Amino acid sequence: MQRVIRSILILAALMMVAAAGHAEETQVEPAAPDVNPCAGMADGEVMGVEACEECHASHVEGMRMNPHGQAADDRTPFARDECETCHGPGTTHFDVEGNCIISLRGKFGETVELRNATCLQCHRGEARMHWPGSTHETSDVACADCHHMHSGKDVVSRQQQAEVCYGCHAEVRASTYLPYGHPIREQQILCSDCHNPHGSTGPTELKAASVNDTCYECHAEKRGPFLWEHFPVTEDCTLCHSVHGSIHRGALTRRPPHLCQECHMQYIGRDHVRELYDYDLDPNLVVSRGLLTHGCANCHSQVHGSNHPSGASLMR
Ligand code: HEC
Ligand code: HEC
Ligand code: HEC
Ligand code: HEC
Ligand code: HEC
Ligand code: HEC
Ligand code: HEC
Ligand code: HEC
Ligand code: HEC
Ligand code: HEC
Repeated sequence: MQRVIRSILILAALMMVAAAGHAEETQVEPAAPDVNPCAGMADGEVMGVEACEECHASHVEGMRMNPHGQAADDRTPFARDECETCHGPGTTHFDVEGNCIISLRGKFGETVELRNATCLQCHRGEARMHWPGSTHETSDVACADCHHMHSGKDVVSRQQQAEVCYGCHAEVRASTYLPYGHPIREQQILCSDCHNPHGSTGPTELKAASVNDTCYECHAEKRGPFLWEHFPVTEDCTLCHSVHGSIHRGALTRRPPHLCQECHMQYIGRDHVRELYDYDLDPNLVVSRGLLTHGCANCHSQVHGSNHPSGASLMR
């Protein structure tokens, strides 16, 4: 408990510094409040859940179905100061002008840091090892923007997770409606199968250290090693694939032959690479096989690499 109070006090001090910075701004903009009325909210007494129940019965009830409300588990907030472990001492709710209890929604001007520190006192480490410095942390996203505490089921449950993310990532939602890609809408694949929203050492908050290592988790056959590798495949799958969704078969970023020609146009070997009609291959051809169905992959079917002794051209 002392540790909790101490950390809240430190944060309150930080908030006062922030409020002081704010006061300077108010000289330019007098309409804004110059002091944070909640700065003193750490100095209060714990009242106990019975006191809250009187006015917030539904929140108490919700909390009893939530893992945090299980007093028998001594790691939970309810084994400490119940509601006030997260919301701060209850008397500030009544004593301090401005109705100051810690609203984890930031209603009374609490900083995101203060709100997140409330959760991190118990949830530092493990999956949140890389939270400090993560894109969401540095973008001032709060734990409570994704997590909700007052129900039996956390909204990042499997069924609702994507909806939570779409609240801020509408463009990703749009992609999932495209015909090719991962079965995200079917909920066979979750955002968190590839991303760790709490931060990671990989790029784009991906769970593994690289894009490819993330993909190999489920597409192990693409890892190789291959006798004949295709350079872009070992480099980065997203050179050719839009994983959230695409209008092109195979969730490709572009349709072959254009996709392949992005890199192979300059090739001074066979004409078919540039022209699409290579009469060396089939002089009677009316329609280019580079344009139909799989495009260049009609013949170069082993685009991800080949283990055939004569597979240098990725055809077998
Ligand atoms: C006498 C009734 C009453 C009691 C008792 C009471 N509250 Fe409140 N509480 C309110 C009211 C009314 C509001 C809305 C205040 C507002 O909107 O400015 C509120 C707001 C809150 C909020 C902020 C909600 C937000 O919008 O983010 C929290 C958190 C909260 N109460 C927690 C508690 C806790 C914890 C206790 C027990 C220690 C408690 N309350 C006891 C009446 C009460
Ligand atoms: C006093 C410690 C404590 C605090 C403070 C705390 N938690 Fe927890 N939390 C726990 C414990 C204990 C569990 C249960 C873990 C388990 O069962 O392994 C838990 C579980 C969770 C879960 C999993 C829920 C589920 O349905 O499985 C989430 C998400 C979570 N906490 C988020 C938060 C967030 C967000 C905050 C801040 C608003 C927070 N916690 C504050 C101790 C805490
Ligand atoms: C951008 C949305 C988002 C934010 C912000 C976020 N989380 Fe989560 N959190 C998730 C998702 C999604 C899961 C489910 C992950 C899974 O199933 O692998 C999760 C799972 C959890 C869990 C339960 C599983 C575990 O890893 O132990 C805890 C505890 C948790 N988060 C705590 C926090 C805390 C604390 C914060 C703030 C520091 C936070 N989260 C911020 C999305 C978020
Ligand atoms: C694990 C930390 C935690 C505990 C324990 C906790 N709350 Fe909350 N509370 C939150 C968070 C986070 C929010 C912000 C809304 C949300 O995410 O659900 C919140 C929101 C609220 C609100 C604002 C109204 C709303 O729904 O937006 C009230 C009132 C409230 N809590 C009361 C209580 C009471 C009463 C208790 C004790 C039964 C309690 N809380 C225990 C974390 C907690
Ligand atoms: C409250 C808003 C919010 C929610 C909810 C949210 N995000 Fe974000 N997310 C952001 C912001 C802000 C950024 C940084 C700016 C940007 O890239 O749009 C970001 C960036 C990202 C990035 C890019 C990271 C990078 O390093 O380039 C990923 C991946 C991401 N979010 C995944 C998720 C997932 C998965 C969820 C759901 C579990 C989620 N987000 C929920 C606000 C949110
Ligand atoms: C199959 C793995 C996978 C799944 C599932 C997935 N992502 Fe991604 N995501 C990626 C990869 C890889 C990147 C890097 C993207 C790139 O450059 O194409 C990325 C990039 C992002 C970005 C950064 C901006 C952008 O579009 O490049 C955001 C935001 C994001 N993902 C959010 C989400 C959300 C939200 C979900 C769930 C609805 C989700 N992702 C599901 C693999 C995945
Ligand atoms: C959690 C497992 C998982 C991860 C991680 C994963 N995938 Fe997938 N992938 C799948 C599943 C499941 C399908 C759908 C298979 C089906 O429908 O038969 C799929 C399908 C695909 C498809 C075919 C899409 C289509 O419309 O034909 C491509 C391309 C693909 N994944 C690329 C990637 C790339 C690139 C990555 C890394 C960024 C990746 N996957 C990460 C599970 C995963
Ligand atoms: C040079 C471009 C290119 C790169 C890079 C690439 N792919 Fe592909 N991928 C393709 C083409 C072309 C198809 C066939 C699409 C079709 O069906 O016409 C394909 C199809 C797929 C499919 C669905 C069919 C199958 O073979 O199972 C998966 C899954 C897949 N790729 C995963 C990956 C993964 C994982 C990586 C990274 C290790 C990767 N791809 C890198 C071009 C590429
Ligand atoms: C991001 C660039 C890039 C893309 C896109 C790309 N390639 Fe490549 N490809 C390369 C590089 C680099 C090499 C190695 C060239 C070398 O060794 O001279 C290569 C090698 C090849 C080879 C073997 C060449 C040889 O010398 O035998 C074939 C065949 C090939 N690619 C076909 C394709 C096809 C088909 C596609 C479209 C599905 C494609 N490539 C898309 C970059 C790319
Ligand atoms: C009708 C079958 C067919 C189609 C379609 C096809 N190729 Fe080829 N490609 C070949 C053959 C045959 C070779 C020669 C293989 C060998 O020498 O071992 C070849 C060789 C190559 C090479 C190796 C370098 C060279 O000049 O020998 C590259 C790169 C290549 N093709 C790219 C492409 C691209 C890009 C497309 C789509 C625009 C494409 N191919 C469409 C059959 C095809």
